[in-house]
Amino acid sequence: MISIIVAIDEHNAIGRKGQLLCHLPNDLKHFKDITSGHTVIMGKNTYLSLPKRPLPNRTNIVITDVAGEQLEGATMAYSIDEALQFVNPDEEAFIIGGGMIYRQFMENGFTDKLYITHIDYKWDDADTFFPAIDPDIWLPVRSEKQEADEKNPYTHHFVEYIKR
Ligand SMILES: NC(=O)c1ccc[n+]([C@@H]2O[C@H](COP(=O)([O-])OP(=O)(O)OC[C@H]3O[C@@H](n4cnc5c(N)ncnc54)[C@H](OP(=O)(O)O)[C@@H]3O)[C@@H](O)[C@H]2O)c1
Repeated sequence: MISIIVAIDEHNAIGRKGQLLCHLPNDLKHFKDITSGHTVIMGKNTYLSLPKRPLPNRTNIVITDVAGEQLEGATMAYSIDEALQFVNPDEEAFIIGGGMIYRQFMENGFTDKLYITHIDYKWDDADTFFPAIDPDIWLPVRSEKQEADEKNPYTHHFVEYIKR
């Protein structure tokens, strides 16, 4: 089973200048809780953006076009298909970004489930986006509101979608 996990703003923005749009410790904990113990698949830009890499307690698969490239603690894959060959069909594996990788997985039909953190804000200077979530394809099955607080500057919602 392949799932996508991502945090998006009100216009589906996910990043700016190679980094996340904001620091939401509550969402980072959510990400860690959901993905720990699993395989995570990411593009090279996302791997390089991680403050601590590879992500601990997870099998890190990194996709690149650069033949022969090796990154510390990562299993390298040179295409989407090659990355998927490292996934055990009995486990839930997570696509963790970024924009280029999300786009390919939203288009290729391989994704079974979405874990979307919807952030109640719109950044004007974002440069990386998540594709539209088509309501004819994706059915929200669970939603949990997280109010802003002193550590988390924006209200956000953890929403899970499955394919209709
Ligand atoms: N909000 C969130 O939840 C979230 C999550 C993750 C990332 N992000 C943000 O997203 C941004 C990064 O996204 P991005 O779109 O720039 O980069 P990305 O998707 O992380 O990585 C793109 C790179 O992956 C490789 N790649 C992609 N498709 C490939 C394919 N089919 N075959 C072989 N290699 C392939 C290429 O690497 P080479 O150039 O080496 O060939 C490409 O340059 C950052 O701002 C990051 O903070 C946000």
